[in-house]
This record gives sequence, structure tokens and C-alpha cells, in this order.
Amino acid sequence: MPFNSIYQLNALQREHIKSRLLADDANCLENEKKLPIENLMMYYRCAIMEIETKFCVLNEQLSLLDERNPIENIRTRLKSWDSVIKKMRDKNLPLTLSSLEENIHDIAGVRVICSFQEDIYRLADSFLRQDDIKLIRRKDYIRNPKPNGYRSLHLIVEVPIFLKDETRFMKAEVQFRTIAMDFWASLEHKLRYKKDIPEDAAELLAEELQACSEISADLDRRMQQIKNKMSIEF
Ligand code: GTP
Ligand code: MG
Repeated sequence: MPFNSIYQLNALQREHIKSRLLADDANCLENEKKLPIENLMMYYRCAIMEIETKFCVLNEQLSLLDERNPIENIRTRLKSWDSVIKKMRDKNLPLTLSSLEENIHDIAGVRVICSFQEDIYRLADSFLRQDDIKLIRRKDYIRNPKPNGYRSLHLIVEVPIFLKDETRFMKAEVQFRTIAMDFWASLEHKLRYKKDIPEDAAELLAEELQACSEISADLDRRMQQIKNKMSIEF
């Protein structure tokens, strides 16, 4: 069943892919551990809840210690089914549940927004020190920003979820950003997905965004310095 684009999938085709995933899985398995998609998605939702709770706990403790909240905001998202299929097709992955679990690391996503850059590293370190968190991959786009100016700290982790009869380890992507980094990334994301901008105008906007990323990083640094000075001297 050839598809030109995932966006052209109709409901029937989507169902076909879904049932193929299940059928492949049913064929290749020594069963029991393999689960239908709805179950798998529920597990990812549970992973999100576990991680969100961990950050709420850290925020509670650190806000007592520092008399301010290190976390401004936590946002979570479960990747949509269409995006999961699109990503698997783009990466030429076999459409099976085991390949999905193995290769797609950002089905469960948690974004932690802080005011200050130092809080990002402090929270990430505390989170990674927890016994039940396993770090799979770390990408520090704060110390090494992307050429377009994107800044953020990304962790791919494995977190246990405790079910009725078993413990399962689920992968999740955690992104840490300052408010300024998040502001920048959301505008850049809009530009990236806006299709009707002529190429030369898009290029100019991308350059302007790159320059704004430097200004924004400078703002983060200066705000951090002010905060440090205030807490040391007063
Ligand atoms: P993918 O999830 O396949 O993109 O894997 P990757 O290895 O390229 O992941 P990476 O850690 O670079 O980026 C993962 C996520 O970070 C993306 O899904 C976005 O949410 C965010 N991100 C990465 N780069 C950019 C960027 O240049 N601009 C914006 N706005 N977001 C980005
Ligand atoms: Mg992603």
C-alpha cells in the first residue's frame, strides 16, 4: 500500500497500518509482553506522570530552600499517532511495536521551563541522580547551540512505571529551557512550519531569529548574574 505522504492517509489507511503493527507484533512474538497500541500509549502516559511528579517534588523542595520556584512551568505531550507513524516511515523502521519502543524515544515528552540557566543544570543533575532514572542520551544545545540558534538541554531517559503485575521501563524525552529559550523556540517552530513564506523572506527571518537567539542568550546570562549578585550580596 504505497503512500506519498503521511498527511494524505485516510482513516482506512491509518487503520490498516495500525492493524499491521498489531499483526506483525502478534507474529513475531513469544507473546504476553507484547501489547496493543492503546496499552503502549497508556504506558507512555504513565511515564509522563512519573516524570512530571519527580519535577514537582524537586520544585517543592528547592522552593523551600531558595524561597523561589526554580520551575516556572512544566508542559507534557504524548506524540500523536500520525507523527509516530510518520517518524517511523521517515526513518525506514519496520512497523512493529518492538521497533517503535526501541527506536522512537520521544513519544513521551516533558518540557521543564525555568527562569535561570543554572536551575536547568541543577534540576537535570538532581533528576539524573535518582536511582530509578537511566540516562540514555544527553544533548546540550545550551553549551552547544544549533546553527540556527536553538538552545535547550535534552535528555532521553528510561523511567520505570509500576503496573498491577509488573514494572516496565519506558523511554521519554525531557527538554529543559529557560523562558527566553522557550520563547525563541516557539517562534522559530512557527516559522519552520509556515509554508507560504517565499524562500528569500524565510532566509531573512531565519537570520533575524539567529541574531535574536544571541540576544536572548545574553539576556539569560545577565539575568543570571543579577540574581547571583543579589543572593550573594543582599
Ligand atoms: P528527532 O526527535 O527525530 O528530531 O530527533 P533528534 O535526535 O534530531 O532530536 P533533537 O534532540 O535534536 O530534537 C528533538 C526535539 O527538540 C524536537 O522534536 C523539537 O521539539 C526540539 N528541537 C530540536 N531542534 C529544534 C530547533 O531547531 N527548533 C525548535 N523550535 N525546536 C527544536
Ligand atoms: Mg522529536
